Amino acid sequence: MQKILREATAKLHVGATNVTEKVDNYVSEPAHQLIVGIGGTTRPGSSTERALRMALKAAEEQGARTILFDGPFLASLSMYDPASERNDAEREFIEAVRSADGLIIASPAYHGGLSGLVKNALDLLEETSKDKRPYLHSRPVGLIVTAYGWQATGATLASLRTIVHALRGWPTPFGAGFNTLESRFAEDGTCSDSSAASSLALVAQQVMSFSCTDKNHS
Ligand SMILES: Cc1cc2nc3c(=O)[nH]c(=O)nc-3n(C[C@H](O)[C@H](O)[C@H](O)COP(=O)(O)O)c2cc1C
Repeated sequence: MQKILREATAKLHVGATNVTEKVDNYVSEPAHQLIVGIGGTTRPGSSTERALRMALKAAEEQGARTILFDGPFLASLSMYDPASERNDAEREFIEAVRSADGLIIASPAYHGGLSGLVKNALDLLEETSKDKRPYLHSRPVGLIVTAYGWQATGATLASLRTIVHALRGWPTPFGAGFNTLESRFAEDGTCSDSSAASSLALVAQQVMSFSCTDKNHS
């Protein structure tokens, strides 16, 4: 069986705590896919981040290792400039995405589309354009959107799907949208909307099942 050792300096998501660790990832292992979460806002108690954490937790319960790049991390990235040298945070982010077996991206709807914070992080993936497996090539990508209403939720979800297609990823069939006027995400990982947990678990399950079928990353 082909064994490819990949190393990534990763910000591991362990419960509510982020720790920096060295990750050795053998892609031929049958389980323990690496799922990278990208999203949230800089707002304390970000509902987008809380929804993303719920989805990552569901992925962990299905056997995944997860890394979370949350709103404050994304805000620490420079505005993407292809001509600039990459800094440590940018390298950490790029290496984690390179190592990912699947991803979950979560954005609020800002003025009818995804946030600049999330888009700037995705723009940084241009650094992988010359890789053997560029951008999000061959990876399943679950999508989560929060908004103060349904119109922007649908528009932002559609826009994120277009971006994932452009990055050669596979948006999962089910995307989770939340009207945060109705669905309140709590710090303890629960939501006032009783269907939220199962929606987010379905996003995680679709990312997990697709990444399982593509372990050799053609
Ligand atoms: C700058 C800005 C623009 C927004 N634009 C929209 C919008 O166009 N449509 C909408 O339904 N909600 C809009 N919202 C509301 C957010 O999408 C909503 O509050 C979201 O759940 C915030 O996520 P957070 O809790 O993770 O910060 C906007 C909020 C901000 C701060």
